[in-house]
Amino acid sequence: MSEPTKTATLTVDGQSYEFPVLSPSAGPDVIDIRKLYGTTGMFTYDPSFTSTASCDSTITYIDGEKGELLHRGYPIDQLASKSHYLEVCYLLLYGALPDAAQLEDFESRVTKHTMVHEQMHRFFTGFRRDAHPMAIMVGVVGAMSAFYHDSTDINDPWQREVASIRLIAKMPTIAAMAYKYTIGQPFVYPRNDLDYASNFLRMCFAVPAEDYQVNPILARAMDRIFTLHADHEQNASTSTVRLASSSGANPFACIAAGIACLWGPAHGGANQACLEMLKEIGTPDRIPEFIARAKDKNDPFRLMGFGHRVYKNFDPRATVMKESADEVLELLGVEDNPILATAKELEKQALADPYFAEKKLFPNVDFYSGVILEAMGFPTSMFTPIFALSRTVGWISQWKEQIEDPGMRIGRPRQLYVGETARDYVDVENR
Ligand code: SDX
Repeated sequence: MSEPTKTATLTVDGQSYEFPVLSPSAGPDVIDIRKLYGTTGMFTYDPSFTSTASCDSTITYIDGEKGELLHRGYPIDQLASKSHYLEVCYLLLYGALPDAAQLEDFESRVTKHTMVHEQMHRFFTGFRRDAHPMAIMVGVVGAMSAFYHDSTDINDPWQREVASIRLIAKMPTIAAMAYKYTIGQPFVYPRNDLDYASNFLRMCFAVPAEDYQVNPILARAMDRIFTLHADHEQNASTSTVRLASSSGANPFACIAAGIACLWGPAHGGANQACLEMLKEIGTPDRIPEFIARAKDKNDPFRLMGFGHRVYKNFDPRATVMKESADEVLELLGVEDNPILATAKELEKQALADPYFAEKKLFPNVDFYSGVILEAMGFPTSMFTPIFALSRTVGWISQWKEQIEDPGMRIGRPRQLYVGETARDYVDVENR
């Protein structure tokens, strides 16, 4: 924790109170108000946490004005072009880039944990075939608590380590199983001779009836998508994981809570909603109609994949994703993909519109990801599960950081109560 550098003074009804100001290694100073209620009898009020730092962290830094995203200090564009997902996992978990031996050991440990307990297969048969894969993932990941009892004690560093490796390793297997179940195909077991992204593609697209060769272009694109979604500071699902873990809940339950929160269309569900929106727009000539709807206060419609609570100039992940979309679709020979053309024209027209410029709305990570995922053969229902498996390392790294903080206490916000004050019960015959 940083030391106070100056103080902030709050004056209410002529009474002044001083609070320490803490300075970060990067980003805004924070006013430490932990003693506010005890000294003033007042709460702060910040319902969607637009001005609230919920923790201190060393994992990811975002500068919304500069469009900067650093993982342990390394810029996302460098990691996306020079690193690979399991190396980024190591960086997020342990705080430094691994040397060759450390990387080999980490990749070997993850690879050897990719299978799930055979009895977990039975969970899937309890779902309807048309269940959304996210519904399956919430259920199955939460149920991991019932299978992996030897890695649920959050106070045991070794069990925390095993749970971290198990979750990173098994999420692609569970996501692929959820997909296979919904299309009525048999599960495909992971292979230890394949890299992380290739294993996932094979588990999703291989069938027992024929050999499956992973396309290295798709594997590289898949790995880059995993990296671009790995972690993102204190977003809604990560904050959910932190709050769940503050009660001492086991890691599988906490990650299941994160998956549930990510599912919403305002968060990780936006990639599915964005592609469905692009398909609804259909052709570029209908773009003005949808931009008008997005600007209409009386219309709840929003441009999905646009806007961000933190980024106010551009989302650096969207920049990389757009380049990747061009590259992958060209390599796949579908560069004249009408959905990509619509997405690019929509971005162009929206960014030329004063409404979006004034409100600082730009494409976010979800705007182009769906174009690539669909070109790779995934249905829109698999877009958010892929976001969830990518973000598992971020959730786990943030969970681990919080658990290891000796000052951790249960998170328990208060409220501005605007309901009825005390009143006596009235018998039904007198109402
Ligand atoms: C992710 O937090 C993270 O880091 C998340 C994430 C991560 O990696 O974890 O980056 C992943 O969730 C990306 C965001 C994906 N969601 C979408 O693409 C859904 C569409 N976007 C929005 O609903 C919205 O932009 C949010 C949810 C992303 C941000 O919401 P905020 O910060 O609460 O902003 P807001 O809703 O208060 O909007 C501010 C103004 C409003 O207009 P006014 O009321 O001020 O007149 O901008 C307008 C909004 O109506 N606005 C939009 C818009 N987004 C905001 N108008 C049209 N289309 C949009 N997409």
